[in-house]
Amino acid sequence: MLDAASVLGDRVSAAIEAAFGLTDVDPVLRPSQFADTQANAALALAKKVGRNPRETAAAILAELDLSDVGTVEVSGPGFLNVTVNKDWIARQIAALVADPRLGVPVQPARVIPIDYSAPNVAKEMHVGHLRTTIVGDALARTLEALGHRVIRQNHIGDWGTPFGMLIEHYLEVGGESAEADLLRTDPNAFYQAARAKFDDDSDGGAWATRARERVVLLQAKDPQSIEIWRGMIGHSTEYFHAIYDALAVTLTDDDLAGESFYDPMLQDVCDELERLGLAVESDGALCVFPEGFTGRDEKPLPLIIRKSDGGFGYATTDLAAIRYRAQQLHADQILYVVGASQALHFRMVFAAAEKAGWLTRPDGERTVPVHVQIGSVLGEDGKILRTRSGAPLRLAALLQEGVDRASAVVEESREDLTPAERADIARQVGVGAVKYADLSVAHDTDYVFDFDRMLALTGNTGPYLQYAAARIRSIFRKAELDPATQSAPVVLGEPTERALALALLGYGAVVADVGDQQAPHRLAGYLFELAQAFTSFYDACPVLTADDEATRSSRLTLTAATLRVLVHGLDLLGIASPERM
Ligand code: ARG
Repeated sequence: MLDAASVLGDRVSAAIEAAFGLTDVDPVLRPSQFADTQANAALALAKKVGRNPRETAAAILAELDLSDVGTVEVSGPGFLNVTVNKDWIARQIAALVADPRLGVPVQPARVIPIDYSAPNVAKEMHVGHLRTTIVGDALARTLEALGHRVIRQNHIGDWGTPFGMLIEHYLEVGGESAEADLLRTDPNAFYQAARAKFDDDSDGGAWATRARERVVLLQAKDPQSIEIWRGMIGHSTEYFHAIYDALAVTLTDDDLAGESFYDPMLQDVCDELERLGLAVESDGALCVFPEGFTGRDEKPLPLIIRKSDGGFGYATTDLAAIRYRAQQLHADQILYVVGASQALHFRMVFAAAEKAGWLTRPDGERTVPVHVQIGSVLGEDGKILRTRSGAPLRLAALLQEGVDRASAVVEESREDLTPAERADIARQVGVGAVKYADLSVAHDTDYVFDFDRMLALTGNTGPYLQYAAARIRSIFRKAELDPATQSAPVVLGEPTERALALALLGYGAVVADVGDQQAPHRLAGYLFELAQAFTSFYDACPVLTADDEATRSSRLTLTAATLRVLVHGLDLLGIASPERM
């Protein structure tokens, strides 16, 4: 109930000010079992104002005028229970229906680079990348919808020591060979082949030495090495984008800002940190020791920014990236949608950047970096998801399996549709199921990957929500009506109508919350509850066959608004809503 919540919250805060002279007190609005919502502020205030909670609530109530919204009473230990009246809800629904944004607020625009997906060149994307891609994309879409300037940053691993062996291997097999083609079709196989040569000692380590020398050549911008390296990036990004297309995520080539992008800045980052007295030599390496980070034996933990052989590493790149994002992109907030296992790394990078003064921008404003920690995707055995043979999963194959399974269902259930239509639905449902399974759990929680569960048509699944939307579309097709133009006044007679209307009014606040708290699973949970509220309504209230015209058109308005919110919300999650299923 966005508007209700903000109206109520403001009024309760004003009443607290009138009663006790305290400004900006949180009204503590919570869902209520006995009313539409309750304000619990009196419980926390009681001590402060020296009265018991019920008296405190009564004093607030005496100053509280909600006559245009509904009724309010003191209940329990000192809750203020608010019941909104039907007319008020009906007016709010009319406003929602007239609003192309469906109540999603426009927030004061912030610049928000989002670092997500970030697979590694010449390596298979694994399920961890799948998850950061899906969660990052949902956050990008949501924050954009809230009015922010999102800058997508695909921080691909395209620099560093592995490229020595990869280039040597490439030179040996030749660019036109089937082996080189693996970079596009099965990058892991290419990587493994290079790795095997690197590890094979039968030549006395000659090959490995050549690979190490190749890294030095590459970093010195040797033209031949650079050309091969560019070609590899081309092949790999082609592969990444095939996955992104299959997933319908919004990342494009323009969003690539990989590790190599920061290479020209690395020396300067080291110099600046040395100048600031933050970087010191330790065992031949240049290190930053951010305050408060100690390992075993209380020894300070280093961020190694230049190795003893002169090479830069992952930490150096991330320091350059944070400086660039704050100082050049003028980020208000930076989201790092990256695996939880990298939490320590990011805390140290953030601490070092803070100490270096990089999080205060040239305009004096602050940049707030946030690590959106991504939990693991597990197999049934509770370990990181892998193939049966223990090899890393190929994402393309995984997505294809989702689509195939959905296809098997659609082929049977929708024989009336053309093969092309069925294929479309299978793709949207199969991919939607995988994405939703990922988004419906908190991003930092591990979950077990289970096709049967994620493809189920019942429960908190993608297909359940897609089906709810498709079913509403079929109601409108049957009635030959356009859901986009249903705006008749709503009359709320049945309890399920009232509950559905209140659920619809909650949409905008949930979207705002998802953006503020980086929590797409709350939108998933909201949409699931909305679909359930719709089902209860639809079971109890005939729509097309309602008794009178006013009731029928009111119910059509509620039904159409439900469809619009479902489709809008699924779209923010990056999930398609098929016309039919
Ligand atoms: N490429 C890294 C990996 O696969 C993730 C990079 C995340 N982003 C960053 N700025 N470090 O684990």
